[in-house]
Amino acid sequence: MKIKSICESGLPASRIRCISVVIFTLHPNSHGIQMRSTCENACILPVPKYLCMIRNSATSALRTPLPGHFYRDEDLYRRMKQEVFLPSWQFAFGPESRLPANQVRPFTLLPGYLDEPMLQTSDEHGAAHLFANVCTHRGNLLVRKAGPCKHLVCPYHGRRFSLAGQCQSQPGLGAVPDFPAQEDHLHHTETSTWGGLTFARILPGMPFTDWINPIQERVGFLPLDTLVHAPEMSHEYKVKANWALYVENYLEGLHIPFVHPALRDALDLTAYPVETTGYTVLQTGLAREHEPSFTLPPTHPDHGKRIYAWYFWLFPNLMLNFYPWGLSLNLVQPAGPMKSRIQFVTYRFAGVEGGPHTHALHDTELEDESIVETVQAGVRSSLYKPGRMVPGWEDGILHFHQLLIRHLAL
Ligand code: FES
Ligand SMILES: [Fe+2]
Repeated sequence: MKIKSICESGLPASRIRCISVVIFTLHPNSHGIQMRSTCENACILPVPKYLCMIRNSATSALRTPLPGHFYRDEDLYRRMKQEVFLPSWQFAFGPESRLPANQVRPFTLLPGYLDEPMLQTSDEHGAAHLFANVCTHRGNLLVRKAGPCKHLVCPYHGRRFSLAGQCQSQPGLGAVPDFPAQEDHLHHTETSTWGGLTFARILPGMPFTDWINPIQERVGFLPLDTLVHAPEMSHEYKVKANWALYVENYLEGLHIPFVHPALRDALDLTAYPVETTGYTVLQTGLAREHEPSFTLPPTHPDHGKRIYAWYFWLFPNLMLNFYPWGLSLNLVQPAGPMKSRIQFVTYRFAGVEGGPHTHALHDTELEDESIVETVQAGVRSSLYKPGRMVPGWEDGILHFHQLLIRHLAL
């Protein structure tokens, strides 16, 4: 390791005094990697041994075109709702919210941002439906409370619907010859289900199969129909940062050695494959010897590897993290230009022993939140310009940015 730039000399090679920024060049034979270490208190930092985990031999690196104001701009924040989120697939609910026949449940899709009022019903045959929870007469919210129900009757002027969404009657319109017409029935929301998870989309956009297929191909062999909700391991976090900064942090494993000491000890970071396809980024975490890993069928593309976890991100705001014990679903919910809420929903495979160490997911999340909030404070600097991305390690961020640029026509 060679100290390349600004730092005070005269210290032992293993200790460096930070003045503002210290730049390391790793591995004399590699040319593409530079790691920065900053220290606000000008303290003495030991040179971390784990820096040698990060290897690369790239000779060029790209910059993202997204500037610092992207992460606080109110107009862009509003535009993203229309152009990115409404035409994208959003996680609606998991298998724990499936309804028996003759039940209804109102909920809000992406509360705090899309705020779409939705109505889930299960009709008398047990068939599932998802509608806008809006009366087709004059827009009243149709259902306020979950529970058993045989017919829907709007509490404003009495318009009546079946649980399959058919408008049946309304006081005062019985003699109108073309009533009810198609426009009087409840508006169905486009819905798809995969692995017991239900997704909804408000505006036309990417086909569901294009969106989900890369995941199906990799983890379709898992017993997804046995996933059981683990409420004791499901939480919501508030982060003082733009939703896209949270996603970017997720999309790279480069920070793991620096930010997540426990995860660093569990993963073999000498390899950290990143694959970008369509609307998906997959990062594959390889297990160290002492860590549990998946048992893979011989035909699986990762057969022969010790997989600790597959970390899938689906454009724009969903993460599906598969572990040998189950699934950790993370939903990133924009809550303002510089605020987000992160929903962690955990599912375990029924009958599978083991699980995450107590608080492991929680601790990792707090470490991520802390660094993302610091980045939010940093990118507001008038002097900030995006730096070069580390090839391989940060390809997922570039892929995310390309998708954003395409949707927003930037
Ligand atoms: S708004 Fe529902 S009946 Fe009038
Ligand atoms: Fe992280």
